[in-house]
Amino acid sequence: MALDNESLLDVPWVEKYRPQEFEDIISQNLAINNLKRFINSKTVPHLIFTGPAGTGKTSSALILTHKLLGNDCKKKGLLLELNASDNVRMEYVRNILKKFVNQSIISLDSEENHGKIVILDEADNIPGTVQQALRRIIEKSSGNVIFIFLCNNINRIIDPLISRCAVLRFTPLNKEKINSRLKFIIKKENITIKNQEKLLNILFFISEGDLRKAINALQMTVALEIIDDLKLDEIYSISGYFKPEILEKLFNALKLGKIDDLKEILKSLSGYSSRNLMRQVLLKISQEKGLNNINLARIYSYLGEYEFRITQGSNSEIQLNALFNMISRELK
Ligand SMILES: Nc1ncnc2c1ncn2[C@@H]1O[C@H](COP(=O)(O)OP(=O)(O)OP(=O)(O)O)[C@@H](O)[C@H]1O
Ligand SMILES: [Mg+2]
Repeated sequence: MALDNESLLDVPWVEKYRPQEFEDIISQNLAINNLKRFINSKTVPHLIFTGPAGTGKTSSALILTHKLLGNDCKKKGLLLELNASDNVRMEYVRNILKKFVNQSIISLDSEENHGKIVILDEADNIPGTVQQALRRIIEKSSGNVIFIFLCNNINRIIDPLISRCAVLRFTPLNKEKINSRLKFIIKKENITIKNQEKLLNILFFISEGDLRKAINALQMTVALEIIDDLKLDEIYSISGYFKPEILEKLFNALKLGKIDDLKEILKSLSGYSSRNLMRQVLLKISQEKGLNNINLARIYSYLGEYEFRITQGSNSEIQLNALFNMISRELK
């Protein structure tokens, strides 16, 4: 296999393989069929795309925009893309957005009035007061501006905005879908992998249904030349997870109730993500045979509770030690 590592890292595969047509969007049939129906009926409402990361929201919004306004819409000033994390502040919304919405753009060749589209990414991070201002801007905008809000959590969008939009839900991609897209990329990139099944299993676990994560991890794996069977476990480390051998050690200590060993193992890991560690422990426990349902139910509830504590800012080392003690009791 001849690989030029530099060029491999040059172009992110998530961009190289970003869907260009609705047909390329995997697994979101309901949302995509609705979009097609809106286009056919020539009435596209304001839209909210909601769903987990890496499931095709931005890609679908761009495909829709290009279909409605042409591929050069950005150059023509017909598309405004805003990201809540950088510039959706009150001032910005008032000035830039109002100007964009109210400006009528006359096309030189046809003198017809073009439509315009505003894509607001990470809309769930827009403060409530700014969302209220947006709502008024939407109400006042002439019919030819379509707003598309993209978000992970629709619960953080205010009701008056939701009720002015059609809500399309994007769902996490299952293993089969993620695998088929990764296989497609592996083929296109002409890569030979000895133990492809193992690689795909690891990538799916890491991805959590987020195709962007899966594709990025695949590209890193190839660029760092760790696709041969013996090095595959390195993928866990580069993605912020623990190698199976460390997990195995930890799990044995859990089963034998060796509290001191557990403490030592935790101490020896530096810069770990407690959330990732919990996910791996959860998977390992769910694969464990012979556990009765009552123990299992208690372990799940501990994991839930301790994860919550850590997200609330408790010291993760103390919480993990406490959690492992509780799990250990159930495993014995
Ligand atoms: N349903 C899908 N079909 C095909 N490719 C996808 C799909 N979802 C994600 N991808 C791949 O992942 C990349 C990121 O997707 P996209 O930007 O559309 O995700 P998103 O849903 O907007 O995520 P976020 O919530 O993080 O913004 C795309 O470039 C594409 O390569
Ligand atoms: Mg996006």
